[in-house]
Amino acid sequence: MKTMEWRDGGLVLIDQTRLPLEITYVNCRTAGEVADAIKTMKVRGAPAIGAAAAYGLAMGGLKCESPDKESFLRHIREVSHMLGSTRPTAVNLFWALGRMMGVAENYGPGEVANLKELLLQEAHKILSEDIEMNKNIGKFGEQLIPSGAKILTHCNAGALATAGYGTALGVIRAAHDSGKAIEVFADETRPLLQGARLTAWELMQDNIPVTLITDNMAGYLMSRGLIDLAVVGADRITGNGDVANKIGTYSVAVLCKEHNIPFYVAAPASTIDMNLSSGDEIVIEEREAVEVTTVFGQEVAPRGVKVLNPAFDVTPNRLITAIITDRGIVRPPYKDNLSKLFSS
Ligand code: MRU
Repeated sequence: MKTMEWRDGGLVLIDQTRLPLEITYVNCRTAGEVADAIKTMKVRGAPAIGAAAAYGLAMGGLKCESPDKESFLRHIREVSHMLGSTRPTAVNLFWALGRMMGVAENYGPGEVANLKELLLQEAHKILSEDIEMNKNIGKFGEQLIPSGAKILTHCNAGALATAGYGTALGVIRAAHDSGKAIEVFADETRPLLQGARLTAWELMQDNIPVTLITDNMAGYLMSRGLIDLAVVGADRITGNGDVANKIGTYSVAVLCKEHNIPFYVAAPASTIDMNLSSGDEIVIEEREAVEVTTVFGQEVAPRGVKVLNPAFDVTPNRLITAIITDRGIVRPPYKDNLSKLFSS
């Protein structure tokens, strides 16, 4: 199973809104279709939306007929803006678009046709490098997982949320592959059930033992000694080590603190936003009420009820035991140690 693949001039995405009931694919032929797939969460997860947006931008370039570089640049700046307006929280989206635009803006004299090809090559690179980064996260993170560990995870930070292998699930995969008899507890992750629909499915495909729980069960399990550690992904990590991730992550971190359980965050360097100094500056996406008032299209709340639906929360750095990156494990003080990642 591949999260996404470039095929015959289009981006083929596994439709994550249909999983696990159906394995269907969407074939995006335009940048607008990619933007729609990101907004409607057919593709989701921070690194995956970054890579998809990179292909969207490449497609926008390929479709542009102007042979003049200035008007080509004007066109793809607009495409980049459109793709960047889909989801505000995960920095990987802006990181990937920035990287693509860097290729375009720094292109010297030369044919627009060659620049189009360079942009497509850059999107391929973003995709393949992401898998490599995740394998490195797995290699570092696996050292933190004792044999026999019972591991809690939240949302889906797996192959589906990335170009492949996963971040938090990459750590879990690496621990499993090294022969440690681990067991995973997956929070279902309301409102959109990424834990139940995607994490449980992904782990079962790989024969990694997984038990599904509803979000409100984690505290009980911890109080009974049934969880040894938690590992989650991230949508944006600020310079001081605060972490935005799927709504409910903060509650898991608070519970871990209360029960003296290590709480780890796994993410590639592309998720670290050194331009923001604290989590207070992160824009949290608000999504539609219907995601809360329905489950798989079935109404579960009185019509007209007032709803809040923030898609992410921020876990303050003091609750985080370590951040596992593709460049190594970062421990507090995060302000100093995260900046070291970018200075070497
Ligand atoms: O709203 P989603 O499903 O895109 O949220 C995804 C998460 O919060 C993931 O944990 C995060 O993007 C890390 S994915 C490696």
